[in-house]
Amino acid sequence: GCSKGEAENGPMPSEDFLIIAHRGASAYVPENTLASFDLAEELAADYIELDIHLTKDGQLAVMHDADVSGTTEANGKIGGLTLSELKELSVNFRHKDEDKKAVNGPSEEYAVPTLGEVFGQFGDNMNFIIELKDPEDYPGIEEKLVDTLKQYDMIGFDKDRHPKVAIQSFSKKGLKRVYELNQDIPLLKLISFDDDEEAKLSKKELDELLTYASGLGVSYEALTVPFIKKMHEKGLSVYAYTIIDAETALKMMAIGANGIHTDRPDILDK
Ligand code: G3P
Ligand code: CA
Repeated sequence: GCSKGEAENGPMPSEDFLIIAHRGASAYVPENTLASFDLAEELAADYIELDIHLTKDGQLAVMHDADVSGTTEANGKIGGLTLSELKELSVNFRHKDEDKKAVNGPSEEYAVPTLGEVFGQFGDNMNFIIELKDPEDYPGIEEKLVDTLKQYDMIGFDKDRHPKVAIQSFSKKGLKRVYELNQDIPLLKLISFDDDEEAKLSKKELDELLTYASGLGVSYEALTVPFIKKMHEKGLSVYAYTIIDAETALKMMAIGANGIHTDRPDILDK
C-alpha cells in the first residue's frame, strides 16, 4: 500500500527517551559549532541536532539562520557567501541575549562547520538529527545531503540499533524529496502549534505524513497524552522541542514523548 508505516524505513526507537542536543550543547557553547557538538558528546547526548544551508559554492554549512547576522559579527545570507568567506567568520552566542554573549570571550574563535567536517569528527560515535532549513531556497540541497550521508556511511543503524541519522524539516516538500531519493533515512516532520493550542492533525494530514515520515518534532507546549498516544498507534515517534528546564523534560517523559530537543544535554543529570 501507500502507507509507509514502521517497517519500511525504520522508525526512530521508541523504547528509549532520547536526549537530543539542540544545536549541540548550545546553552553552554555557541550553537552549531564543533565545540558545541564536542560538549554534547561529553554530556552523553543521544543525538545532536543541527541545521544546514547551502553556500554560494554549493557546500553544506551548519548554521541555524539563513543570515549570518544572528550568530556572527557579519551580515549577509549564507547562500550569498562562499565556504571560504563563511570560514572567516566566528560564531558567537546570539546577539539578542546579552548575558550569554558576555560569556563568549574575544579570545575564543568558533568556526562555522560543514556537515562533512561534523561527520568526519563525530560520525563514528554520535548520531544526528539534521534539519533542512528552508530547502526550497536551496535547489538540490536534498541530493547533496543524501550524497554526504552516503560518503560518510551515516545511513543505517549504530551498534544499539538506533538510526545514525534522521532528517527533520518544517518543509514537507523537502522531506518528500529526500524520501524520493532514499527510503532508508528516518524522516521527522516538524510542526509548530500556537502557545495556547493543543496538537492535532486532520485525517488527511496524518495519512499524508504516513506516506513518508517516521515521526514528528512538535513544540512541547502543545503536546498532550491523547495526541502522543494516537501518533504511537500510527507508528510515529514524537519528539518535543525545545526544552530548557528539568521539570518540563520530566513532564515530556511522563506524557509519553520519545525524547526532547534541549540546549542542555545534562538537563536530567541531577
Ligand atoms: O529541533 C527542533 C527545532 O530545532 C526546530 O526549531 O528554530 O530551533 O530550528 P529551530
Ligand atoms: Ca533546528
